[in-house]
Amino acid sequence: MQEADFIVRLKDINVQYGSYHAVKNVTLDIARGEVVAIVGPSGAGKSTFLRTINMLEQPSSGILQVGSFRFALDHALTGEQLLKLRRSTGMVFQSFNLFPHMTVRKNISLPQMRVLGRSQAEADARTAQLLERVHLSDKADSYPARLSGGQQQRIAIARALALDPDVMLFDEPTSALDPELGLEVLAVMRELADEGMTMIVVTHEIAFAAEVADRIIVMADGEVIEQGVPAEVIRNPTSSRTKKFFRAVVERH
Ligand SMILES: Nc1ncnc2c1ncn2[C@@H]1O[C@H](COP(=O)(O)OP(=O)(O)OP(=O)(O)O)[C@@H](O)[C@H]1O
Ligand SMILES: [Mg+2]
Repeated sequence: MQEADFIVRLKDINVQYGSYHAVKNVTLDIARGEVVAIVGPSGAGKSTFLRTINMLEQPSSGILQVGSFRFALDHALTGEQLLKLRRSTGMVFQSFNLFPHMTVRKNISLPQMRVLGRSQAEADARTAQLLERVHLSDKADSYPARLSGGQQQRIAIARALALDPDVMLFDEPTSALDPELGLEVLAVMRELADEGMTMIVVTHEIAFAAEVADRIIVMADGEVIEQGVPAEVIRNPTSSRTKKFFRAVVERH
């Protein structure tokens, strides 16, 4: 593959918490339009790794490239670099983190005005498109507290999309939701994937990973222990640690 075909490149990423080595030499190249699922046991370093991609977590070393931005991580980024990086990544967390005192429309429009300098009319027009995309056009004037968890999470997705990111990062976006509300969110994510959005999804939803992801990455103890086409990795894991993880997942369900 040509260098330019990769939208995210991470090389030898390390994260240390004091003497604890939470992410160890992780290298990952992601093609434009690719959907990558990251799975693995609790404490594997999945969230920590995902959060290095937009520098919510500061790696001790490594090289990070998102879109046209490329940074060596052994020194602090300037505020301007950080802003560019954050703009090119859209992050969706387990907790929805909407602004409770703002309507849905304002939650999605305000960041566009603040970060991208769009006018109110431009921002609201884009917000209307995004609300349609997450099937919540009728909720523009509602406050988050009046929405279900699944609806709030779909608004959080629309808000992240509003900044036109190069890549969407999801950290267990459905694990705080009742199963049927999780399905609504997974359906929207599946549509985004079908439309060609580049996505990195940390998830316990192995069925979703199997159906939607182009590649599955298994992490344990801060390392990538296995990766490949989901159906193959899930059916025929090569490492004993991966086997153990999938066995535990099956037993839990
Ligand atoms: N701010 C922090 N300070 C110290 N240790 C931390 C910090 N954040 C995470 N860790 C540790 O780093 C390791 C990896 O944590 P991380 O949250 O990335 O795991 P995870 O794979 O996302 O787990 P889970 O599936 O439970 O969300 C864990 O042992 C955790 O306790
Ligand atoms: Mg986590």
